[in-house]
Formats: sequence, structure tokens, C-alpha cells
Amino acid sequence: MKQVAVLGLGQMGTTLAQLLLRAGMEVQVWNRTAGRSTALADAGAIVAGNPAAAVRAAQVIVICVHDHAAVRDILDADGVATALAGKVLVQLTTTSPQEARAIAETVAALHAGHLAGAIQVAPEQMGQPDTTILVSGPAADHDRVRDVLAALGGNIVYLGEQADAAATMDLATLSYIYGAAAGFFQGAALAERAGMDVRTYGDIAQAMAPSFAAFLRHEAEAIATDDYAITQSPLSISVDATRRIEEAVRAAGLNAEVPALVAKLLRNAAQAGYAREEFAAVVKVLREPAHAA
Ligand SMILES: NC(=O)c1ccc[n+]([C@@H]2O[C@H](COP(=O)([O-])OP(=O)(O)OC[C@H]3O[C@@H](n4cnc5c(N)ncnc54)[C@H](OP(=O)(O)O)[C@@H]3O)[C@@H](O)[C@H]2O)c1
Repeated sequence: MKQVAVLGLGQMGTTLAQLLLRAGMEVQVWNRTAGRSTALADAGAIVAGNPAAAVRAAQVIVICVHDHAAVRDILDADGVATALAGKVLVQLTTTSPQEARAIAETVAALHAGHLAGAIQVAPEQMGQPDTTILVSGPAADHDRVRDVLAALGGNIVYLGEQADAAATMDLATLSYIYGAAAGFFQGAALAERAGMDVRTYGDIAQAMAPSFAAFLRHEAEAIATDDYAITQSPLSISVDATRRIEEAVRAAGLNAEVPALVAKLLRNAAQAGYAREEFAAVVKVLREPAHAA
């Protein structure tokens, strides 16, 4: 039976431990503050008194704590460095790319395997067929923990050997999510000001999501191949659309910072000569440092 330690029993760590137990693994758990492991112990987890004890009793060690500093505290705790040798650490705390590289170096120096991960969903969405977790690190270490990862989510995306790849891709997906969310909230304010039901707007956005995602996948192809011949949507259409959004938001007396920013970005792309190219050509402006206003 696979022996796994889960260090950190916050919302996410607790869910990870539950899923590993459900998958029939032997699960050691530890949390800095006592008292968070009672339900897990009832479900069959073995509660360790300190992180080193949990690491010693496991083959695979999952860390999921608040941040990089918390990971460091665990790695620096008495006995952990020695106990890690020969085992694999699956580091699922969200970190920056620089922090991911630093942790990977520390763990490699301890003669342990290491996989860095970035969880893309909330705890209640874990363990589903479409649960996405980004991982990167040595392929041999990935192979050693495939079963552990499979228990946590059905869409494990292995991004290669680079220690910081998962953290970098995490920032890329977050950039998409926050950009789209800011635009969505702007639209909510506009619809609401016009007296419309925001729930209807939410329903429309939900129905549009799969085709919008397919459109983005198409644009990714244009960027990857650096081929911006118009195949779906000329950039000029979006220049006009974002100008109209900015005008409507201003006319409604709303905060226009978000549409102004997007409209300016697309105007810059058009002025750089990309108006008659595919929408994705805007990436060519984003590849350069920002122009002075
Ligand atoms: N929750 C989500 O929706 C979500 C989604 C994706 C990714 N994540 C990532 O998952 C990680 C954990 O999130 P969470 O939601 O479980 O957070 P959380 O509920 O706030 O729990 C944080 C955990 O970190 C521990 N911790 C904090 N500082 C520590 C230290 N110095 N030494 C040892 N342990 C320490 C806490 O222990 P104590 O109990 O002792 O305070 C607790 O177990 C984060 O990196 C987060 O970005 C979370």
C-alpha cells in the first residue's frame, strides 16, 4: 500500500488527505496547529506529532500550506531534511516561479525527488475527472507519484522537467481568469445600470464559456505558430468593440478604467500595424515592454 504524508491541513490539505484515504492509501497527516486532524483520524489517517515523523513513515510527501515561507519552515523543521532523502516531495503550495526553483534546489540537495504543482480549482472541486493540477519536475519523479496525483484529480497536466513551469503556467491561467473576471464584473455593472437582471447575464456568460474557450485555443495556435493571417476574427473588429464598450461605460457614469485599458491596448496593436491580422496579433504588443503613455 502506498504510504503518503500530507503536511498542512488547511482547506486544501484536508481535502487532499481525504482523497488519498479514499483511494486506499496509508495517509500520515501533520498540521502546525493541533486539532485540525480529528476528522481525518476518524477516517483512518495516522496523525504524526511532528513533520519529520510523518516524512519518515511515508514514501511520498505532499506539502500544501499557506505560502513559500511556510514550506521553508517545514523543510527546516527538526529531522525533515534527513528523513526526505530517497523520497519524493509533491509540493502543492502555490508559489512564485522563483520560489519553485529555490525549493527544487533545496530538495535536490537533500537527495530527494521533487514535483512542483499548482492546483487550479477550489477544494470542493478536487477529485473530479476534470480537476486540473499543473505539475512539473523530473519525469522520473512524476512517474513515481502518478497514482498519488491521479487520486487528487483527473486532469493532471505534466509540463516537463523545469521546476518553475507549473508556477509559471499557474500565473498564465490566473492572468486569464482575472482578466476575464474583471471584464465580466464590468459587464455586470453595465447591465445592472441599464436595469437588466445580472443573473441573466451570468447565464449567458456560462452558456458562452465552451465556445469562448475553443476560440482561445484557436488563438493559442496562431500565437504558437506566429501566424496571424485572419482565420476567425480580425483585430480591427475588437478595436471597434472595445471603443464602444468604453464609450458606453462612460456614458452610463461608471468607472471606465478596465475598458479604457483594454481599448488602449488594442488601439496600440492597430497603430503598430496589426489591424488586418487575426485578433491574437495583440500578443505582439504584449511581447514588448510597455510604451510610455
Ligand atoms: N483553497 C483554495 O481554493 C486553493 C485553491 C488552489 C490552490 N490553493 C493553495 O493551497 C495552499 C493551501 O491553501 P488552503 O486553502 O489550504 O489554506 P488555509 O486553509 O489557509 O491553510 C493554510 C495551511 O498552511 C499552514 N501554515 C501556515 N503557515 C505555516 C507555517 N509557517 N508552517 C507550517 N504550516 C503553516 C496552516 O497551518 P495552521 O493550521 O497551523 O495555521 C494551514 O494548515 C495555498 O498555497 C493555496 O494557494 C488553495
